[in-house]
Amino acid sequence: MTARTIRKAVFPVAGMGTRFLPATKAVAKELLPVVDRPLIQYAVDEALEAGIEQMIFITGRGKNAIEDHFDIAFELEVMQKRRGKDLSALEGTRLAPGNAVFLRQQEPLGLGHAIWCAREIVGNEPFAIILPDEFMHGAPGRGCLRQMVDAYERTGGNLICALEVPMEETAAYGVLDPGKSDGVLTEVKGLVEKPAPGTAPSNLIVAGRYILQPEVMKVLETQEAGAGGEIQLTDAMAAMIGTQPFHGVTFDGNRFDCGSKAGYIEANLALALEREDIGAHIRNFARKLVC
Ligand code: UTP
Repeated sequence: MTARTIRKAVFPVAGMGTRFLPATKAVAKELLPVVDRPLIQYAVDEALEAGIEQMIFITGRGKNAIEDHFDIAFELEVMQKRRGKDLSALEGTRLAPGNAVFLRQQEPLGLGHAIWCAREIVGNEPFAIILPDEFMHGAPGRGCLRQMVDAYERTGGNLICALEVPMEETAAYGVLDPGKSDGVLTEVKGLVEKPAPGTAPSNLIVAGRYILQPEVMKVLETQEAGAGGEIQLTDAMAAMIGTQPFHGVTFDGNRFDCGSKAGYIEANLALALEREDIGAHIRNFARKLVC
């Protein structure tokens, strides 16, 4: 199958981040660092690794610093150069001219609405979505979106990252009604957003990465508010099942839910332990702390 290349990725970053208040009162949740890189930087790195050319950020009030993060920090760069300092830490923070688009979602009406705000920029081609607060940590060159793009080249259609969680956690997520499985691929027969306890069709959740066909924008155009009073992407995707191929992909790597405090601390600990500069120090400290 020759599927159309995925060139564009949408990063919805207009949410209020209420679970991290007061940290997120004036600072965007997506700029919170895991060790020393902001969540949004990991998300963009993952997209670049998967061959994405155009990054589309759906921002909102108080999120201007995300735009600044991907711009040139002229004074900083000049100063560091003058001092003979290494600038490699800034690698990947400057996106190629014309390859970053910042759009505003004036009201946080839900993830589905945020994605719909990108309809004119996405146009008539398949595209990826990355939720930056779902931090997917894969081996170098094997990030989550890279794995999904590889799968997409075989399946075409629509893909979501599918992840197993304990059954009692499903009520917080979009949940798959799974069909046949073949290796890392699982057919998606249905999707339900935040199922009431005891009603989830499986313990497979949608984990913050999507490759969707542009027709989803037409569905979102008339999508009514769903769970939590928000316009849900899951509901729009569910409406497309049966009209186009739909698969879940199992990610070979670790996922940290950095929208939750526990997941965010876990990500920091895991990444710190991997680091050459601070790993040994943190390991010793953690040992002392728990003994
Ligand atoms: P979340 O529900 O996890 O983010 O949305 P939130 O609303 O910011 O967080 P809490 O629950 O209040 O703590 C997942 C992603 O979708 C974006 C968020 O920025 C986040 O990256 N989002 C959500 C939007 O861009 N617009 C929305 O209307 C809702």
